[in-house]
Order: sequence, then structure tokens, then C-alpha cells
Amino acid sequence: MLNFTVTENYDAMSALAAWRVAKALERKPELVMTLPTGGTPIGMLQEMSRMAQQKKVDFSQAYSFNIDEYIPLKKEDPQSYYWFLDHYFYQHANLPVENRFVPDVLADDLLTECARYEQAIVDHGDFDLTVLGIGHDGHIGFNEPHATHSPVCHIIDLNEETIEANARFFTHREEVPRQAITLGMGTILKSKEIVLIANGLSKAQVMKQLFDCKRVDPLFPASFLLLHPDVTIICDQEAASLIPSLR
Ligand code: F6R
Repeated sequence: MLNFTVTENYDAMSALAAWRVAKALERKPELVMTLPTGGTPIGMLQEMSRMAQQKKVDFSQAYSFNIDEYIPLKKEDPQSYYWFLDHYFYQHANLPVENRFVPDVLADDLLTECARYEQAIVDHGDFDLTVLGIGHDGHIGFNEPHATHSPVCHIIDLNEETIEANARFFTHREEVPRQAITLGMGTILKSKEIVLIANGLSKAQVMKQLFDCKRVDPLFPASFLLLHPDVTIICDQEAASLIPSLR
């Protein structure tokens, strides 16, 4: 049974998620975390940045891994997910540059790069905290619905629905990358603690599906979270609006 917390609005969702990061950091200053990108986490990242600037939290010993990255965008590309975390979080917090990790999607051999990224996570003792968003098709990280799932870091072809949803960040739909490197389901599930955030009416259907799901279904990737003992889903009232018992 997944644990849902419903907040009044987006700002409250963001503040609560940032507070969870702060608490995890308080427990372990050398926190190893993985963070999502996209529309949902912007408020959370801004709140984490605010807390860092006000010296309420200290990221100086923490490690941060991008959960995924588009192939083949450079780190400096404003559409890349590294740029995104840099823009909304790293630039404003004291997390050392050498503690920020992202798959090198320009590597000659991407399979070797996936293995290297996975090993870097293992070398840091796996994640203490994973923060996830969720796609309309139930993807977490970029683990799209598939009959089978890779447990570790891998290359994924993005679904048309995901490309469509992400087109809002690009000038033309054709510019949206069709592939990404993503963490695998096993690595996500090895994390000691998982927090998933969702907001807005566009996520109401997928939140209802997640609330109702009783067994793991590879065609609904977020259902893998049922296998984890410490998952908190934080969503705003709009995202929870199709779940009568949470209203
Ligand atoms: C992105 C990621 C994805 C997003 C998901 C939701 O790093 O891991 O799983 O979290 O596509 O995206 P938004 O927040 O834009 O709705």
C-alpha cells in the first residue's frame, strides 16, 4: 500500500518535498540522492535552493545524480537535464561540482557509459533518497511501459506520449530527443527512501491509476513502487482529484 499525502496546492507540494530532502540531509549530511527534472520539481528545487541560501540546509557533503538525460544533448544545452538541475538548484546551493553526476550522453560507447554511471552509484553506496516525478503513462525516471524492464542504467526509446508531453519545453516538436539514458527500476528500488511528486489536473488520471494499483504491472511502471517499503507520494489536490477517498 502506497502512502499518499495530499497538499492544498503546488507550492505546498514543493515545500513538503523540499522539507523531505532537508530531513534526509539532516540525518545524513553525505546524502546520496537522485533528482528528477521536468515541470513538477521546479518548485521543490527552488525551495531547496532558498533553504541552501538561507543556510537552513547544507549540501556541501551531499551527492546528486540526474535520474535521466536526453541523448545526445550537451551539458551546456539549455534543454539538457543537467542544465536544468544546474539552473534550478546547483547554481544556488553549495553542492560541490565534483559531487554532481549525469550520464555522459555524448560518450562514444553509450552502453559502457551506462555501466560506468551505474558503477558510480554503487561506489557511492546506492541512493539514500530518490525523488521521482511521474509521466502520464506511469513512467518513473524514463522507464517507459514495456513488457520487460532493465534493472540498471540503460538507453530507452521515449514513447510518443512522453515526447508529446515534453514538447512544451522545446520550440518545435521535432527538437525533442527520442532517446534518453535513464536509471533502471532496480537501482530506483534499491534507494532507501523514495518520494514521488505530482501536481495538476493533467496528472489526476495517472495518480488514480497509481492509487488503485494492487500489483506490479510492467506496462504501468510506477506500480513497481509497490515493492518498496518506504515510498511517499506527495500530490496536490488537483492531482488527487479523481481519488474520492483522498479528497
Ligand atoms: C525527468 C523524469 C520524468 C519526469 C516525468 C514527469 O527527469 O524522470 O520521469 O519526472 O516525465 O515530467 P513533468 O514533471 O514535466 O510532468
